[in-house]
Amino acid sequence: MDAKTAQKQAAAKFAVGLVAFDRIVGIGSGSTVAEFIKRLAPLAANIPGVVVASSASERIALEAGLRVWSLNDALASDVAPKFYFDGADEIEPGFAMIKGGGAALTREKIVASACETFVCLVDESKLVSALGKFALPVEVVPMAEAFVTRELQRLGGSPKKREAPLTDNGNIIIDVSGLFPINPRALEEEVNQIPGVLSNGIFARRRADQLIIAGANVRHEYAPVSAW
Ligand code: 5RP
Repeated sequence: MDAKTAQKQAAAKFAVGLVAFDRIVGIGSGSTVAEFIKRLAPLAANIPGVVVASSASERIALEAGLRVWSLNDALASDVAPKFYFDGADEIEPGFAMIKGGGAALTREKIVASACETFVCLVDESKLVSALGKFALPVEVVPMAEAFVTRELQRLGGSPKKREAPLTDNGNIIIDVSGLFPINPRALEEEVNQIPGVLSNGIFARRRADQLIIAGANVRHEYAPVSAW
């Protein structure tokens, strides 16, 4: 096993210790949370279930024997999710992130925003001093591809359509490099203003509240008070 996989597993193992047994668990998508979901399997009988942000996570959760709730049902229940666990492609010192490497950014942002506490799980390669090395994923309605591409270029970016199946929402992903450095929150809002953009992978308005970083050992940190 490579070091990065071992670190993802260590972060996932630590995160399981934070799970509130009396509430549905909010879960994102990606290889780090896949490790987390597998480690929830022994707790399947002790928690009400999970709400997940992608069809990939849903499949893993069902295989793990977990009850999968829709977000609508989860929020209407008396065991609504409080904690949301997810990975990131980049996270900076103010706990703003770039997400969407796995194309699940829109549902991740919805579920994360519906939960009180976002716990981000990363291997230490995801820590950056400023966002922007990872190209920004933008989920776009297919018929708006040419227009959104032009608008992203106008903002100074270099957009590239991702060669991948459509997202769980039936849309395309455009990865944009060259948009930073800029205040992440301002850029998140500006990109969202382009008609045809469903959402973008900057998580600054809904940054992480807690961070689990796995390197030589596992660290657990809380978001700084003054950031975005
Ligand atoms: C998916 C995501 C993932 O959280 C992000 O890509 C990190 O993935 P991994 O845990 O596989 O490194 O945003 O849309």
